[in-house]
Amino acid sequence: MKDVSGKTAVITGGASGIGRATAEVLASRGANLVLADIEAPVLAETVAQLAAGGAEVTGVVTDVTNLDSVHGLRDAALAAYGAVHIVFNNAGVGGGTTISSSPAMWDWVLGVNIDGVVNGMTTFLPLLLEQNEGHMVNTASLAGLGGVPGMGPYCASKFAVVGMSESLWYELGMLGSNVHCSVLCPGFTKTRIHESERNMPDELKSVPLDPFSERAGSMAKQAVEGGIEVGIVADAVADAIVDERFWILTHERVALATMRQRLAWMEGGQPPRIDLGEAGRR
Ligand SMILES: NC(=O)c1ccc[n+]([C@@H]2O[C@H](COP(=O)([O-])OP(=O)(O)OC[C@H]3O[C@@H](n4cnc5c(N)ncnc54)[C@H](O)[C@@H]3O)[C@@H](O)[C@H]2O)c1
Repeated sequence: MKDVSGKTAVITGGASGIGRATAEVLASRGANLVLADIEAPVLAETVAQLAAGGAEVTGVVTDVTNLDSVHGLRDAALAAYGAVHIVFNNAGVGGGTTISSSPAMWDWVLGVNIDGVVNGMTTFLPLLLEQNEGHMVNTASLAGLGGVPGMGPYCASKFAVVGMSESLWYELGMLGSNVHCSVLCPGFTKTRIHESERNMPDELKSVPLDPFSERAGSMAKQAVEGGIEVGIVADAVADAIVDERFWILTHERVALATMRQRLAWMEGGQPPRIDLGEAGRR
């Protein structure tokens, strides 16, 4: 898509962080916005602020884990703008270690981060393919390129997003389609991801954290707070849509080092030395 001006972008997790910043960049380039988020008051505030800045924007309260809710998002976007051209499956949450996560914690993280993307793909790909125009961006993470201690459910979900996005890229090529896709793999970025528990189901919120999970949570918080500014990620997403580029590696040096070190490990070398602080630097 050479120009996003006049196109309509649906962004899940659009009320905060990377989703919100990308909305600002796409609006500045002339796109109409449909922002979807589970947090109704924050979404309303974000929509009001963007509209006050001159953006053409609609907010739709959406739970990406619920297919009916995502169908409602599609219908609202079509009612507002008549077509959808860009879909950013970006809503996500973090929580839980591999060792101590309960089944409910696994369900929540995999539900938002995997089912949320699957629901976005099954709902919007038919529209994009039918009009033979569009771009889908799925948000994974550096944690989708290599295992990280203290975040097993999150890593599992982001590996899944990388895999399904690569498959989608090949399949769009097999079809000779004018629909394109990207996978976003950022390292740590200053957002509210380390406060994901604000959107946890109540039954999970009431379970006290064990010391191991608390330690992992405070390491992740420190790393997120030391991460890059969200605008860098937003610009990279908008540029990849215009350039029709698959990999969005906002922390390219660390991403490539991670892949090389894993390969060396598979070939009999040493396992990578994980430094969470390093994963927040470009
Ligand atoms: N911040 C980082 O360091 C980092 C690094 C790599 C990847 N990511 C990924 O970036 C994406 C955006 O996260 P962020 O960092 O901007 O965090 P954020 O918490 O600021 O934003 C995430 C948004 O998703 C929304 N959300 C949560 N559950 C939802 C649901 N069920 N339905 C709809 N919306 C829901 C939240 O309300 C929030 O507005 C996530 O997929 C995250 O995993 C973040």
